[in-house]
Amino acid sequence: MKRSYELAMIVATDLDKGIGKDNDMPWHISADLKRFKELTSGHPIVMGRKTWESLPKKPLPNRENIVLTRNLNFSAEGATVINSVGDLEKLNLKGEVFIIGGAEVYNLFYAEISKLYLTYVMERFDCDTYLEFLKLKDWETIHESEVLTDEKSGTTFKFIDLKRKN
Ligand SMILES: NC(=O)c1ccc[n+]([C@@H]2O[C@H](COP(=O)([O-])OP(=O)(O)OC[C@H]3O[C@@H](n4cnc5c(N)ncnc54)[C@H](OP(=O)(O)O)[C@@H]3O)[C@@H](O)[C@H]2O)c1
Repeated sequence: MKRSYELAMIVATDLDKGIGKDNDMPWHISADLKRFKELTSGHPIVMGRKTWESLPKKPLPNRENIVLTRNLNFSAEGATVINSVGDLEKLNLKGEVFIIGGAEVYNLFYAEISKLYLTYVMERFDCDTYLEFLKLKDWETIHESEVLTDEKSGTTFKFIDLKRKN
């Protein structure tokens, strides 16, 4: 049966596919946070329990926040808690549903994801969480920005939109 929704992944990685450190982001790029908000607002967002806990303010507003945990007693105020990938299909979601991390949850859904919104951080950061499974050969670029620089930190990055190759 065809699904009523499509899965998109939104992630920022460094040159080594690092995405996190000490359950936090390794960098602060304000344009990336702005783009994240613009793309995901109005859409359901799916995250692992650790990413939920890392959010400074939760739930993220104007989005249905969905948190994945194996803990059957977990409660997340303002969010929908699910305990398996199969539970997502029971939520009657529509349109573009964003997988927003972290590494475990990206990996879990990776094969089902048809669109990838990548912030490619063009430096190496001290990270403890990586996306080894992310293979750029699986993806075709739809749009790529010029190289941008975060004014405050000097970090350089690009925004790249990709779709899965058929
Ligand atoms: N750079 C980026 O764009 C970006 C985006 C998001 C997050 N991050 C970073 O990524 C790091 C967190 O990633 P992470 O991989 O450690 O954690 P995560 O994916 O956010 O959460 C992992 C948790 O999800 C739950 N889970 C995983 N698989 C499950 C399954 N099959 N069924 C039910 N629940 C399941 C488990 O929760 P329970 O333990 O409660 O059972 C597990 O501990 C942080 O550093 C964060 O800042 C970076």
